[in-house]
Amino acid sequence: MMLADFPLFPEQASTSAPMVDTLYLFLVVLCGGVSLLIWLVIFYFAIKYRRRPENELAEEQEPPKLLEIAWIVIPSFVFLGIFVWGAFVYFHLARVPDDALDIYATGKQWMWKFQHPSGQREINTLHVPVGRPIRITMASEDVIHSLYFPAFRVKVDVLPSRYRTLWFQATKVGRYHIFCAEYCGTLHSGMIGWVDVVEPTEYQRWLAGGAEGSLSQQGEKLFQKYACNTCHTNDATGRGPVLAGLYGKTITLSDNTTAKADENYIRESILVPTAKVVQGFQPIMPTFQGQVNEDDLLKLLAYIKGLGATQTPTPLAVESPASKQASAGAPPSTVNRQPPTATSTNP
Ligand code: CUA
Repeated sequence: MMLADFPLFPEQASTSAPMVDTLYLFLVVLCGGVSLLIWLVIFYFAIKYRRRPENELAEEQEPPKLLEIAWIVIPSFVFLGIFVWGAFVYFHLARVPDDALDIYATGKQWMWKFQHPSGQREINTLHVPVGRPIRITMASEDVIHSLYFPAFRVKVDVLPSRYRTLWFQATKVGRYHIFCAEYCGTLHSGMIGWVDVVEPTEYQRWLAGGAEGSLSQQGEKLFQKYACNTCHTNDATGRGPVLAGLYGKTITLSDNTTAKADENYIRESILVPTAKVVQGFQPIMPTFQGQVNEDDLLKLLAYIKGLGATQTPTPLAVESPASKQASAGAPPSTVNRQPPTATSTNP
């Protein structure tokens, strides 16, 4: 209670916040306590063993063995304990729950852009439902930024070269700060925003307010615009690999190594197609580096992911009738999607 009133601590508004704060507070109290103890002992000994008569000399003494062992063993276990505790919190922060709702973010000098699977876009504001894990997949359009939600106690660097993810589950309805936590140029301090945590029903209502089609629908349009569909057909006759059901799979490359078709693999395959060529295919695809911006990359990603979520039953994107049609040529097992859950973003 006292902690919440202390102005240096932001509000605790996520499931991770209490875990992070407890560890942090433990470290502060431990370090503060030990420092205080050392200072007290210094003063006590300085007075007790002060030099008295001019000619009196100190006698050297070996410390007792038991004391020496104690001051080695006890701190070692304390430090190991801190390590295990810290690792536990770290793994909790690193492991995204399976039922997380996907939101995409782009950082650029100097703003935050957020895209929801249903197509809604926001700048420097983010709407999320309360009580639901949110996974943010993000990249930067220019330099390194860092997406920081103080009230949720999560902060992850946003890189220009690959996707990174963070997740949180908000526990309280309210409005909380978004900061950029990595110096990124003149207006770094202005690269801020608000996250609006709302009730799930209100989130649905907010999502229903106009959008230019879902993210994967927009991705599908880009897929045609960039003529990806001329090579990536839905049967094995195309010059490029079939993309339906690709996401989450492990694939064999031309040099006989394997790679997992995750977000970063798909990203790299669009920007640097020759980096990892699928076995049995020629490295003929041109690079799209510099042609597709981060926003469009995320749309393409949402579309390709939606072509068959073989890995997790997460409702990643709203399936449009058009994209169902587009993937109709693929084997049914990879096209069938889990029905959206009650809190999914189905309009
Ligand atoms: Cu973006 Cu600092």
